[in-house]
Amino acid sequence: MQQEFILEMLDISKSFPGVKALDKVSIKIKPGSVHALMGENGAGKSTLMKCLFGIYKADEGEIFLEGKKVEFKNSKDALDNGISMIHQELHPVPYRSVMENIWLGRYPVKNVLGIKPVDHKKMYKDTEALMDELQMSIKPHTLMAKLSVSQIQAVEIAKAVSYRSKIIVMDEPTSSLTETEVAHLFRIINNLRKQGVAIIYISHKMEEILNISDEVSIMRDGRYLGTWQAEELTTDLIINKMVGRDLTNRFPPRENVPQEVILKVQELTSTNPKSFKNISFDVKKGEILGIAGLVGAQRTEMVEALFGLRSTSAGITYLKGQPVRISTPIDAIKNRIALLTEERRVTGIFPVLSVEDNMLVASISNYLHRGAINSKKCVKAVKENITSLRIKTPSYKTQIRNLSGGNQQKVIFSRWLLSNPDILILDEPTRGIDVGAKYEIYSIIAELAKKGKSIIMISSELPELLGMCDRIMVMCEGRVTGTLNSEDANQEIIMKYATQFAKQGGL
Ligand SMILES: Nc1ncnc2c1ncn2[C@@H]1O[C@H](COP(=O)(O)OP(=O)(O)OP(=O)(O)O)[C@@H](O)[C@H]1O
Ligand SMILES: [Mg+2]
Repeated sequence: MQQEFILEMLDISKSFPGVKALDKVSIKIKPGSVHALMGENGAGKSTLMKCLFGIYKADEGEIFLEGKKVEFKNSKDALDNGISMIHQELHPVPYRSVMENIWLGRYPVKNVLGIKPVDHKKMYKDTEALMDELQMSIKPHTLMAKLSVSQIQAVEIAKAVSYRSKIIVMDEPTSSLTETEVAHLFRIINNLRKQGVAIIYISHKMEEILNISDEVSIMRDGRYLGTWQAEELTTDLIINKMVGRDLTNRFPPRENVPQEVILKVQELTSTNPKSFKNISFDVKKGEILGIAGLVGAQRTEMVEALFGLRSTSAGITYLKGQPVRISTPIDAIKNRIALLTEERRVTGIFPVLSVEDNMLVASISNYLHRGAINSKKCVKAVKENITSLRIKTPSYKTQIRNLSGGNQQKVIFSRWLLSNPDILILDEPTRGIDVGAKYEIYSIIAELAKKGKSIIMISSELPELLGMCDRIMVMCEGRVTGTLNSEDANQEIIMKYATQFAKQGGL
């Protein structure tokens, strides 16, 4: 007889020093279904999945797979038993090819007189077939280091599928994907579901959850709240259950008044001919300028160049009317420009340093007094940020790697707030952040603009750009295709500009 549930996790508890991450959590997953797992940053979602996957050992509780009690010693054990996982933190091996990353630890081998060399040809063929099956266009031989974050995420998806598992855990698989890519992933998920695969899907994007899932389980503060059929739920109901209160407005009121132009960029052009070209725009004091575009629009590359992280072959940047040379991030910081990078957990954190050190690293000079660090002042600033952004951490001394994904993001966000820039460039500022905390970040952005700071904000979430920005500049394949006042913009118009010359691709 087929089991009603393919997976049951019963009364799972797990503590870390100073935190009870899971307190008797139970979830039951049906085969051939998409089961969403939701909860605020730090609610315990990733920890629960790591207990399943053998990365953590639960302190108590039992796991049943197809009715049989299991306890996986490590992730290989879980994979061998038909469970694979796309991790929230991506860990590609950068100087290896796509195919080596996918088949890592299980390379196909030839058998030549008892010696077993790696069968590169087969590995190539298998990778090509997998990419074909998933309709992805990534080449097997490409180095991982050459891929964009969204392509790395696509490789992770392909890898998870390649194990042909019965259960696939996806911990924020779409955090770096744009809308067309998400649609592509959903087609893949639907096919897997038809084949009877169970998907455990973790995401902070409400629309996605309601669109793709059959059932939704919600956690709050390490506890299990309940499971609902997706069709019984609405965004508001989920938010209410997750946060424990209603959030009536998703965006704060904006009271900023754009003033004179502070930053003017003229004809900025990358040295890489495939990247951005002839980018011209300006930003006013007290203005929030959004940048929209699909993957490949070169938005990240453009702001990274503006910040001195990438080289340009042409272009002039004016600050308050004066031309300035920004060839390194140090130049940018001196000119009071800050950049919150897109892939913060890869490019932004110092994993073994504390929350405090990670927060202060860009502004430490503000805390020096006659050559010595004023630690009281440091701690005060750090504690204020922990409170205002509701960062969930046992202490400011905790190593940042022990925080949940979303809470790490908040620490990096505070880092740039503390550096007190005039121009703050935010690349996907709310990626991986839960709904309640999103509102807090929006409020901070609105407040900064009101104080006369200029904000440049890249986002793939169009409602966020429409809700937050004064103007929205749209890019497509490295060029600016339009700039709109937010009052005149809507999602359709933005998409029209964003796809001006783009081929509508998938992953
Ligand atoms: N290795 C660890 N050491 C210490 N504490 C940890 C560790 N891993 C997780 N925690 C703590 O356990 C709690 C739950 O974290 P978890 O990563 O499961 O949250 P999450 O629901 O996945 O959040 P997010 O949406 O931000 O990813 C958090 O308070 C976190 O700080
Ligand atoms: Mg997580």
